Amino acid sequence: MKVLLVSASPRRGGNTFTALNEVKKTLESDGIDTELVELGAKPVRGCIACGGCRRDPDKHRCVFDDDICNTISEKAETADAFVFGTPVYYGVPNATAMALIQRLLYSNGGAFQYKPVANVCVCRRGGADVAYQTMNMMFEMCNMPIVTSQYWNIAYGREKGEAASDTEGMQTMRTLAHNMSWMLKKIHGLATTDLPEKEPWSPMNFIR
Ligand SMILES: Cc1cc2nc3c(=O)[nH]c(=O)nc-3n(C[C@H](O)[C@H](O)[C@H](O)COP(=O)(O)O)c2cc1C
Repeated sequence: MKVLLVSASPRRGGNTFTALNEVKKTLESDGIDTELVELGAKPVRGCIACGGCRRDPDKHRCVFDDDICNTISEKAETADAFVFGTPVYYGVPNATAMALIQRLLYSNGGAFQYKPVANVCVCRRGGADVAYQTMNMMFEMCNMPIVTSQYWNIAYGREKGEAASDTEGMQTMRTLAHNMSWMLKKIHGLATTDLPEKEPWSPMNFIR
């Protein structure tokens, strides 16, 4: 079983990567294969509603082949679950995350439906709740089971890598990974435990 993780941050090795990498490492410790793709700073177009992806019912690709969308689309076909990560920009997911996910789901929805998905949002201070819900809205109308954690999948940090110091955020990522591997194993009839692994709660308050 394989989970595809995609970071929509333009900042390679930044906080979105840090959070997703915590999910990735934990999935691997649970015996799940992973691939983490960072979109980086290259542009990703938005959907132009041309309908070209649906003209040939067997194609399942966006007409624009000049960015990473179709590469991810191909990877999605062999993935069993997904984690999409985005930095919060002005209280919502960044434009790259929205553009990519909308084109993926519209052009190749069959590669996503009935596969578990989670989103991860990273911010300095505020707006992550709205960004989180906005991301889930896209998956919720595509028959994708949403995997949850012990809290919303949010990590806090501003400068590159600061999110690693958000100890509760990192625990939320590990719990998410355990829940996702558990769900995948249940779906595929490979679960060896009734419930997923769970760490003792390790809260981190803003004022300390
Ligand atoms: C254009 C822009 C808008 C941002 N808007 C917000 C915001 O609304 N709320 C917030 O808490 N942080 C905001 N931030 C800060 C980033 O979310 C934060 O630095 C995050 O850690 C970046 O993740 P990355 O390292 O993966 O790129 C913004 C950053 C940029 C560049």
